[in-house]
Amino acid sequence: MSVRILALVGSLRSGSHNRQLAEAAVKHAPEGVEIVLHEGLGDLPFYNEDVDVEGSVPAEAARLREVAGGADAFLLFSPEYNGTIPAVLKNAIDWLSRPYGAGALSGKPVAVIGTAFGQYGGVWAQDEARKAAGIAGATVLEDVKLSIPNSVVRFAEAHPADDAEVTGQLVEVLGKVSAAAAPSAA
Ligand SMILES: Cc1cc2nc3c(=O)[nH]c(=O)nc-3n(C[C@H](O)[C@H](O)[C@H](O)COP(=O)(O)O)c2cc1C
Repeated sequence: MSVRILALVGSLRSGSHNRQLAEAAVKHAPEGVEIVLHEGLGDLPFYNEDVDVEGSVPAEAARLREVAGGADAFLLFSPEYNGTIPAVLKNAIDWLSRPYGAGALSGKPVAVIGTAFGQYGGVWAQDEARKAAGIAGATVLEDVKLSIPNSVVRFAEAHPADDAEVTGQLVEVLGKVSAAAAPSAA
């Protein structure tokens, strides 16, 4: 039985280097690990408790929850916007944090990695994503870290999937996430 890891990307732009990182994870996933790259976070309405009631949950939020419910673990890819987590990723975490105490992240392993233009690779944003996911009930893998700096320069010519150093680091991350997820997938 394979471990299913849901990848959520905190950038909507078509040329996103974080999205490319997620694509590299899909491509280099080890045997027995399936990475599902979630599409549609740009169509997810802002979280609103008024509509988060039975019969009124927006379709895209319901779909995200359903897909997340079938995942064994999560890998979040976050750039950094103005020193913190992009709204698109925070919004997804907010939807997955409810129903309170029983959201799709509850008790499941979550790792956060990413790349940003700055010299620290978006560590502030990735730390914030870990904090939010933990408060949302996830089991955050605090020791799984990968923050790749200078994204715009580093990936200007080469896709991350073709960067041997990056793919090696990604495979290591995937190994740790799948190991953490394995007990629940068994
Ligand atoms: C609104 C905005 C704010 C940004 N703020 C930061 C920042 O605080 N730190 C940083 O390292 N890069 C910052 N950047 C640059 C992003 O890291 C860079 O555009 C990155 O490539 C975005 O990720 P993506 O390629 O996945 O879209 C910012 C970019 C935008 C558009």
